[in-house]
Formats: sequence, structure tokens, C-alpha cells
Amino acid sequence: MDPATLTATAKAMVAKGKGILAIDESTPTIGKRFDTISLESTEANRRDYRDLLITNPGGAQYISGMILFDETIRQANNAGKPFAECLYEQGIMTGIKVDTGAKDFALHANEKVTEGLDGLRDRLTEYKTLGAKFAKWRAVITIGDNIPSLACIEANTHALARYAALCQECSIVPMVEPEVLMDGDNTIERCYEVTARTLSTLFKTLQSQGISIEHTILKTNMVISGKQCRQQADIAEVAKQTVRCLKETVPPELPGIVFLSGGQSATLATAHLNEMNAQNPDLPWPLSFSYGRALQEPCLAAWGGKAANIDAAQKALLHRARCNGLACRGQYHAEMEQAD
Ligand code: 13P
Repeated sequence: MDPATLTATAKAMVAKGKGILAIDESTPTIGKRFDTISLESTEANRRDYRDLLITNPGGAQYISGMILFDETIRQANNAGKPFAECLYEQGIMTGIKVDTGAKDFALHANEKVTEGLDGLRDRLTEYKTLGAKFAKWRAVITIGDNIPSLACIEANTHALARYAALCQECSIVPMVEPEVLMDGDNTIERCYEVTARTLSTLFKTLQSQGISIEHTILKTNMVISGKQCRQQADIAEVAKQTVRCLKETVPPELPGIVFLSGGQSATLATAHLNEMNAQNPDLPWPLSFSYGRALQEPCLAAWGGKAANIDAAQKALLHRARCNGLACRGQYHAEMEQAD
């Protein structure tokens, strides 16, 4: 473990005005995304799409790192240059998703536990030789009748701690992601309660497992109304409750917090992040983004699987990256959606 490397990487991930682009969809998930543009999910099509995301001119101004899937970190651009090298040349760090997915949690109906610890030390060593500087592990917490159970939160946070230890051992910064899903009909208050319980258990477990908090990045959901909830909290309320929850549960020595978008529209995810930063200039940690869908959706739609649209697709991605970069500074305005 090299603390100086971990410190430098963690700091760069959340550098002022920058965030992370998550392009680490598993093969089944990217298949679902391609369905929206009626494109077959072949290895060549996935490579072409990731190529346009990775080689987007100007992206490095707002993007500090990209999270890749195993297939992508082994692929190269048309000129045969490995994608991790393409990122490195732009000053963008390579991240890698290392969990092997959320599986049904035995004896606990409707709950998931994330797998992937077996062989992880060796996989991390290999990813490091392929250029990875940070990693991601996503746990999924579902809100429902009598769930999440304590067992689900404990099993998932324990796995996150074991993953984080293996990452830090080989000087890869662990991004720990316990995602409380926003798909249900729950209120924002219920989301607050579950997120607070999850995050406080997470940090207790990380500390008891000897994880260095100052070399860890938290990726979390916002505290938000469930998608099916009839009463939708507004932007100010989401920002207020999210920041309150983080202040209550996250140690100040953590170098940064990034949010997932979780199914929010691209513009709403930006507006929420902006409001948090605009209203709270003095938080102990930078608040930034690590969006997948909220950065990619307009880009994917503009591309439509056609080479002739690459330029338009890259412009759409750059626009979202810029808006979110400004949101990290609390300087985003809704009118910017028309301006570019
Ligand atoms: P979304 O922003 O689409 O939720 O994806 C972020 C992510 O990487 C989830 O692990």
C-alpha cells in the first residue's frame, strides 16, 4: 500500500469542477441501453460506443476518471491503442468495476448481495497492470415492506469493506457504492432513514476492518422520493435532505463523495448536484458526480448506432459533462440547457 499514490488518486478523482463518467455497464445492461436505439449488442458495437465516449475531445476538462467494464479495459481504439492508454493521454484516470454483480441474497426474499471477492486480489493486480487507478463495487439496497433487513445491510457493507481492503493493499482507490434504489413508492423520509442506516453501517464496518477512510471515495444515491411515490420532493428538498444525511453519517476525513444518477433524468441529476453545492460551499468533502445514465443518455440517443452521428453524440456528452462540472461548483443554470 502506497499512501501517497492513494492520496493523489483520490484527490484527482474529485478535483474541483470534475467528476467521473461511469461506462461500466455489464454486457446484459448495455444490451438494455442499446435496445433503446434498436442496436444489437455485439462486441464490435459495444467497442464503437465506448470508443466515442472515451475519445471525446475536450472531455478531460470536466471528467477526471472513467469506470470501465472488464471487456472495455481489454479493448483498443481503431488504431489499436488500448482504451486505458487513450484515457491516460488525455489525463483521465482509468477505473474498473470489479464486483461480479448483485445476486439473490439467500434466505432473504427480494434482497441482493453483491459477489466478486473470490480471486479479487489477483484480478486487481492484473487491472493495475492494465492501467487501473481506482475501482468500483456496487451494493444494492432495496426499500420495501420490512426491507432492507439488517442482514442485507451487514452482508453488503462487509463485502464492501473486504473489497476496499484488497484495493488499498495494491494502491488502487476503492470507490464504495451502496446504492439505495429509487424505484419504489417510498417517501423521501423513508429514503433518508434507509440511506442513513446504510451509510452509518458502512463507515462503522470500514473502520472496524481497518480501511483507510482518507483513501476511499464514497459513491452514493441522493436522498430522494421513490420514482412511484405520488409526492415528489423538489430540488431544494432533495439537496437539503441529502446533505443532512451525509453530514450525519460520513466522516470528515473522506476525500470525496460522488453521486450515481439512479434513473433521474439527465437535467434533474445536474440540478440536484448544483443545488447541494450552491447551498453548501463549506462541506468537509467535495460533492461531485459519477453518473452513468445521466451523462450518457442524450449521447446514446444522438448516436443511434450510426458513425455519421459520432460528432453530435460527443457534443451531447460534452454538454452534460460541462453542466455537471459547473454543478460541482454550484454554477449551473437551467438556461444552459438551451445555450450550447
Ligand atoms: P447511474 O448513474 O446510471 O445510476 O449509474 C451509475 C453507476 O455506475 C451505478 O453503479
